[in-house]
Amino acid sequence: MRISLGKKLAAALSFAVMLGFGGALLPSIGVPAAIAQSETAGSTDRSATGGVQTLDDILKRQRGEDVPADAGTGSSDGAAASDQLGTLGGASDSELWRKARQGDTFSVSIPDKKSATLMQDEGAEWLAARNGPMTQYALYAMAGIVLLLALFMLLRGRIRIQEGWSTVKIERFTFIERFGHWLLAGSFLILAVTGFALLFGREYLVPAIDWVGMKMNGGEVAPGYGKQIYASSIGIGKWLHNNIAWAFVVSLVLIFFMWVLRNIPTWTDVKWFAQGGGLFSKNSHPHARKFNGGQKLIFWSVIIFGASLSASGLSLLAPYEYPMFAPTFEKLNAASEAIGYPLGLATTLTPFQEMQYSHMWHTIIATVLTIIIIAHIYIGSIGMQGAFGAMGSGKVDLNWAKEHHDLWVEKMVKDGKVTLPAAKVPAEPKKAPMPMKAPTKPNVPAE
Ligand code: HEM
Ligand code: HEM
Repeated sequence: MRISLGKKLAAALSFAVMLGFGGALLPSIGVPAAIAQSETAGSTDRSATGGVQTLDDILKRQRGEDVPADAGTGSSDGAAASDQLGTLGGASDSELWRKARQGDTFSVSIPDKKSATLMQDEGAEWLAARNGPMTQYALYAMAGIVLLLALFMLLRGRIRIQEGWSTVKIERFTFIERFGHWLLAGSFLILAVTGFALLFGREYLVPAIDWVGMKMNGGEVAPGYGKQIYASSIGIGKWLHNNIAWAFVVSLVLIFFMWVLRNIPTWTDVKWFAQGGGLFSKNSHPHARKFNGGQKLIFWSVIIFGASLSASGLSLLAPYEYPMFAPTFEKLNAASEAIGYPLGLATTLTPFQEMQYSHMWHTIIATVLTIIIIAHIYIGSIGMQGAFGAMGSGKVDLNWAKEHHDLWVEKMVKDGKVTLPAAKVPAEPKKAPMPMKAPTKPNVPAE
């Protein structure tokens, strides 16, 4: 049985599911309905074509629906030369063309082995997924997280420093740490904007530019107005995406080495999560070291998804040079067999399929990481009073630190890196003057 592109991708995505991020996303993004559809043996009437495939078969295949391999295995030999699909009549080797159309690889003597594949059905499936569900759900995911954060802001409000600002600031991140963070953040933001501009272009941006143009020009724009503006600006976007990628990779390596030791999960983090990180109640401040459980989750998401984006991005930058999916599927097959649920993924993929998987994976992971980062940016800026300073000046307020990273402050004090202001001892109360009590008895001098 032919395993559809969607099913294979879904299996690869199980990595993300295991991490807990892909779970919500997978059913919607990973497997477009059309692709996930299993064998749909149609009872198509092929008598008009002498038994060979019909236009309906071709369209089904283009939509990514499975057409049974034996569909239309009749011969067109009998079809008259004037009939549709039978122009060469008996002179056409229908069996050969059918094989070519079904993706069979032929042998070629030139070095470029890719040319051995003449036609590739999966290309249509990939295109349908890329222009359809992947684009749509990426937009829904981003709109969804923005709405959720707006709701959180509305219900919880800004997370304030409960004790108010103190007079003491303590150093949280050194210059090199902040440099690494902002290189990562800046390059990520450029990559995200340009990457999603590529993805959303045809579906959303071109109509949006047309709409703006019409608003500005009294309801009319020249034909192709949106397309032209989009095309000239996305040229720059594509250049930026390809070239800023290196800054992202360098900064990813930098922050990994700077912060990995402080991001090893501990029991304190489990307890932090059990208390919802104190995010949902005003009086709760679960214990945390330098990074709390939530921050560790962000750190590992950035490292794992960022590395995955870099690898798949590299394979897109150098097409056909780094086939990664066939070896990954082999490992997944072995792992799934070991636990008794064999996935049976195809391990011989054409170079085109490798590129299609790389592209889909790159886009899905980019979407997952972007929604995580939108939440991170919210908390690191307007969502929490006093947080931004950590990456701005490098210093944070002592009361903020005590509330959100108490164990870290304790350690800093113990190591002598922070001196807490001397606790204010209330000044000794002035001795009250002797009460001038009126004598109860008249003070009659002794006789
Ligand atoms: C432009 C908006 C951003 C702002 C305002 C921002 C703000 C911050 C702040 C204030 C911290 C320190 C939190 C603390 O004191 O512990 C931080 C940490 C961090 N940021 Fe950002 N950030 C931004 C973008 C990004 C981006 C785009 C990424 C990665 C793609 C990123 C990755 C990280 C990581 C891994 C940490 C350390 C772990 C953590 O604190 O969550 N940041 N950020
Ligand atoms: C090392 C890092 C990266 C490299 C080398 C890289 C490279 C690429 C390449 C070569 C493409 C194909 C562009 C085309 O259609 O011609 C691409 C597409 C894309 N990239 Fe990246 N990228 C990287 C990181 C990122 C990041 C961090 C994001 C977003 C968070 C991102 C989002 C996207 C998206 C959404 C597409 C799909 C565009 C489409 O379907 O038209 N990329 N990337």
